[in-house]
Amino acid sequence: WPCDVVVVGSVNADLVVRVDRRPGAGETVLGSDLATYPGGKGANQAVAAARLGARVSLLGRVGTDAHGRLLRESLERDRVGLGHLHETPAPTGVAMISVGPEGDNSIIVSPGANARLSEQDVADAGELLRSAPVVSLQLESPLPTVLAAARAARRVVFNLSPPAPVPDELLALCDPLVVNEHEAAMVLGRTSPPAVQARELLGLGPRSVVITLGADGAVVADASGVTAIPSQRVEVVDTTGAGDGFTGALAWRLARGDGLAAAAAFAVRVGAATVRRAGAQSSYPTLAEVEGS
Ligand code: RIB
Ligand code: NA
Repeated sequence: WPCDVVVVGSVNADLVVRVDRRPGAGETVLGSDLATYPGGKGANQAVAAARLGARVSLLGRVGTDAHGRLLRESLERDRVGLGHLHETPAPTGVAMISVGPEGDNSIIVSPGANARLSEQDVADAGELLRSAPVVSLQLESPLPTVLAAARAARRVVFNLSPPAPVPDELLALCDPLVVNEHEAAMVLGRTSPPAVQARELLGLGPRSVVITLGADGAVVADASGVTAIPSQRVEVVDTTGAGDGFTGALAWRLARGDGLAAAAAFAVRVGAATVRRAGAQSSYPTLAEVEGS
């Protein structure tokens, strides 16, 4: 079936413990009961879009282990197309996540099977990638794989997360490049106000830029100028996966033909909904929930 959004990216089991404070080196702290959630920046984007009603396919890799089976089942329940979700003889990706008292998180990712997502996998999905109005990407997969997917896409939405240096060619293919302030500062090599960052990032070649600002919404920039998108204030429970939820929602609205500012305004509402609930995918809203908020 025709897709609105194809996501190429990671699938992780999120192992989450809430803590009052994080341990330093050589230190032990006690935390909450362990919660295991479906996560991974790629799968998160896919589920966020699918839950809103998008037709989504996910190109990725999981291991032949219990986590892999669990994640596949959970993606199936969310009606994400899995014709290109491969199995690989490696552990499924895992994210070890601590959530602090303010809903803030720190994450260690073990990529496992995600690290095996290859340029060949992208080539095998060439027709699917070329047929979709939007291909949505992040950086928990090998850079050559991400670049190959970007080259094959009609339109690239790229969340440069986790932050790492990327070639100019990849930046030039983005429409938009999606980053938070921290990632923007990493790319630019210095900090400046978001509107300035947005203009400077545009100067690096993408057709458009979105900077997510958490509780302050987002800033979007393209050839027509810079626009600030405000956010409603919400009670923060867990920010894990808010950026992925934002990006998945943005990708879907762009695929439907929204302009950048309208798509970002919708995605900000989705991001606000996600921080109110625990986990990543477990916190993503349906379209009815967003429209009622
Ligand atoms: O962006 C949040 C995601 O990052 C989590 O779901 C975790 O899997 C890590 O990949
Ligand atoms: Na959440």
